Amino acid sequence: MAEVQVNNLSITDDDDIVDPWNVSGKSETGIDYDKLIKRFGSSKIDNELVERFEKVTGQRAHHFLRRGIFFSHRDFHTILNLHEAGKKFYLYTGRGPSSESMHIGHMIPFMFTKWLQDVFKVPLIIQLTDDEKAMWKDIKIEDARQMAYNNAKDIIAVGFDPKNTFIFNDLDFIGKCPAFYQNMVRIQKCVTFNQAKGIFGFGESDVIGKITFPSIEAAPALSTTFPFIFGDKVVPCLIPCAIDQDPYFRMTRDVAPRLKMPKPALLHSTFLPALQGAQHKMSASDPNASIFLNDTPKQIKNKINKYAFSGGQATVEEHRQKGGNTSIDISFKYLTFFLEDDERLAEIKKAYESGEMLTGELKKIAIDTITPYVQEYQARRAQVTDDVMQRYFEIRQIEL
Ligand code: TYM
Repeated sequence: MAEVQVNNLSITDDDDIVDPWNVSGKSETGIDYDKLIKRFGSSKIDNELVERFEKVTGQRAHHFLRRGIFFSHRDFHTILNLHEAGKKFYLYTGRGPSSESMHIGHMIPFMFTKWLQDVFKVPLIIQLTDDEKAMWKDIKIEDARQMAYNNAKDIIAVGFDPKNTFIFNDLDFIGKCPAFYQNMVRIQKCVTFNQAKGIFGFGESDVIGKITFPSIEAAPALSTTFPFIFGDKVVPCLIPCAIDQDPYFRMTRDVAPRLKMPKPALLHSTFLPALQGAQHKMSASDPNASIFLNDTPKQIKNKINKYAFSGGQATVEEHRQKGGNTSIDISFKYLTFFLEDDERLAEIKKAYESGEMLTGELKKIAIDTITPYVQEYQARRAQVTDDVMQRYFEIRQIEL
């Protein structure tokens, strides 16, 4: 079997592909996340960690933690130690604005980040990498900025508190913040082209902006990038994101100690799969693979009924006899993300697997769960005016 070096990791023909630009699994049950933990060298979020989390915070773990949707971490124990000692850290996450509206998959890290912000009461920084999308997707600078503002409104509607949340887009903010540029250059000095090629797979014909971009996603993981928030204090950072973003932070964790800064800790999520099947993540570039946050109830219903890959059998008789397969069924997978009630989820699993529940009924439950989620979200989104958005973007001291 051919073994090649990709992202500084050796992978074989039958390994899944997971990097910031491509996600593709080999099996219809989806990505093999345990294998990914081994390949990336991160740690599994196991029951012991979830129990420690509950003990240290006094709060019931979010269903994303209980169900292994956030499945991997780096140094999360260190963050719990800090919290136990009454010390502060900050949260950092982001979005690369490549479409006018975000989809429900993008909500996973942001919903979880909001919950972490509520539990730990810590500052949150959100980066919108409009520069990244201008380069990778050949989008005009002006259009990329506009998408960043639209996406910022999408993110604000998740419910972040303006008192302790700072949002910025690279194309407007970096030029106003000398400390940001200075940290970028410090990081750029630590990474050779060979290393960048190894981590990200850059080639000779990639534009030079791409090669330097990782320093821009890395810089916000250092508190000294934001002197108007942290002064010159060294404050540790926790990054919630889906596992595709890990290469940026492997690089950041390599560089940080050389700049006498703490390595950022990470919490990694699995992907909300595309409607067509768990081999692919939901992605904004294919409208029929995704449920967008601005879809109407009718569109949601049609997409799930028409495209959501079914683990059911070909005929009703066969289905009653053999039952459905929840490990490949997309409507069921979506319920694991969006249906909070553990008991109800277990009942549905049992009924579907025994053949008592048919695919049409399962799809209806998925539609009836996701539609109100999107509608409630849309009501909040409608409240986010330009003035509301401006409060999050203002360069200011936020509550620590
Ligand atoms: P982007 O815009 O591709 O994705 C934004 C966030 O959503 C996650 N994500 C998903 N999570 C679950 N299911 C899916 N189907 C799915 N698709 C995307 C991504 O992992 C990410 O957490 N370069 C980044 C922007 C960025 C960033 C960051 C992300 C800048 N700084 C710090 C995380 C942390 C990007 O283009 O993300």
